[in-house]
Amino acid sequence: MVDYMGGSAVPIRLREDRDFSLDVDELASLITDHTKLIILNSPHNPTGGVLNRQEIHDIADAIGDRNVMVLSDEIYSRLIFEGEHFSIMSVPGFKDRTILLDGFSKTYAMTGWRMGYGVMREDLATHITRLMTNSNSCTASFTQVAGVEAMRGDQSSVDGMRAEFQRRRDVFVAGLNRIKGFSCRLPKGAFYVFPNITKTGWKSKMLADALLEGTGVACLSGTAFGDFGEGYLRFSVANSLANLNKALERINNWTKRNL
Ligand SMILES: Cc1ncc(COP(=O)(O)O)c(C=O)c1O
Repeated sequence: MVDYMGGSAVPIRLREDRDFSLDVDELASLITDHTKLIILNSPHNPTGGVLNRQEIHDIADAIGDRNVMVLSDEIYSRLIFEGEHFSIMSVPGFKDRTILLDGFSKTYAMTGWRMGYGVMREDLATHITRLMTNSNSCTASFTQVAGVEAMRGDQSSVDGMRAEFQRRRDVFVAGLNRIKGFSCRLPKGAFYVFPNITKTGWKSKMLADALLEGTGVACLSGTAFGDFGEGYLRFSVANSLANLNKALERINNWTKRNL
């Protein structure tokens, strides 16, 4: 999308040793007079990293009062296992410069309903409305009614699912750490785990393909998300504990035979 608009995307590495947070000094060094938009995503897909309140403030300081907008994708904001969600939109001076994105797919398991929303200045909303109306027309009215029900209804299922994802994360990360060549940190949010597989000696894409072919377990190569993903795989724990345990067993058996 950035390329399409004639811009050039500048990636920043997320640091495994910081639980997949970013180095704010590095971010500051990448901001130039050409910078128009900074895209943040926390909790993060694919790493499960979460920016804490201090880090968000540090990022805001690095941006300062430049004429730079922030696109903040906070679709996993209700899926945090440690600490609380904090949005850069809450930092003084950033309300008018932030476009906050959220949706129903994750919080309410309404993936596929094609329903999300943005919070932004009214003058920007006019343009986005024009773009959306002419690109994908509109969200169906009956799915919108379901979205309203999801938001207004009992929220205990959201907390229940977060606890369930945490259980699955704990089991899956512990299991991966017992597999030869895999090492995995505990993600702080979202429902992904992102093991480092460099010690297997395999490239990420080759290993992801081999696991699919050899075990029937589907994961993504870290490189599906950009070059900095080399050395990692992404697993989703949006599946039953029984299936996750089965996946662990199959990967473990496969690595014993092939590594
Ligand atoms: C960070 C992030 N933002 C947005 C989305 C979009 O979700 P959807 O298109 O289902 O609303 C996803 C889905 O994987 C995501 O990981």
